[in-house]
Amino acid sequence: MTVHFIGAGPGAADLITVRGRDLIAACPVCLYAGSLVPEALLAHCPPGARIVNTAPLSLDQIISEIIDAHAIGHDVARLHSGDLSIWSAMGEQLRRLRAAGIPFDVTPGVPSFAAAAAALDSELTLPGVAQSVVLTRTSGRASAMPASENLEAFAATGATLAIHLSVHVLDDVQRRLIPHYGADCPVAVVFRASWPEQRVIRATLSTLDASIGSSERTALILVGRALGTPDFDESRLYAGDYDRRYRPVGSAPRFPESQS
Ligand SMILES: C[S@@+](CC[C@H](N)C(=O)[O-])C[C@H]1O[C@@H](n2cnc3c(N)ncnc32)[C@H](O)[C@@H]1O
Repeated sequence: MTVHFIGAGPGAADLITVRGRDLIAACPVCLYAGSLVPEALLAHCPPGARIVNTAPLSLDQIISEIIDAHAIGHDVARLHSGDLSIWSAMGEQLRRLRAAGIPFDVTPGVPSFAAAAAALDSELTLPGVAQSVVLTRTSGRASAMPASENLEAFAATGATLAIHLSVHVLDDVQRRLIPHYGADCPVAVVFRASWPEQRVIRATLSTLDASIGSSERTALILVGRALGTPDFDESRLYAGDYDRRYRPVGSAPRFPESQS
């Protein structure tokens, strides 16, 4: 018996991995975080599967479901939105499963920041503009931020920011970032990236209407000079005169073909 933690992707039912889909189809039990995992994915469950929405359950109740499945030798598909490596609450479940000696594995998923960047037709790292992406959030009721991980500290680097769980405090985000990025810095808010209801708002840090975050909370705030600028360097990797292992150039290439 194994508990398969599966990244369910950002919302579109076909943005799950083939491995994740096949695991759902093979498991007689499916536990899914119903707040963001699309119900369409449950169509992959085998007939007669026990399907439980864990959104209203406590951690104890979720683990109890897993222990019951373990007792009768039933594999479990455990679905969380996006990828499991960020804000999935997988860590605390794994700690309990390790303590109980219950086997598990992890299948990654498409994270929402990647779906949001796709919705914007944008690369978040552009040569000469930004070469880092910070996945962050602001403090919430359920999780406080460590003091050193604040927006101002990340903003000081000039990296592209992907701010999760924060659309309801947009005015605060704008106020804190303008001194670092400038009032004219591009910002995009992507609501429900990849869902049929996907909506994209583009503005600058000063022109963004903070009230857009008052109703729908499933949104990502992307901030940085890389958003939508046509003004960036081309990557050297594909330059015609760039000598590299896969495309030796010149009379004395650094990686002669015989060595590659
Ligand atoms: C609990 S976190 C889950 C993050 C998820 N594990 C991931 O990989 O993206 C939920 C937050 O992620 C962001 N989010 C999740 N799905 C989204 C989507 N389809 N579009 C925009 N933002 C999304 C929102 O900021 C939301 O408040």
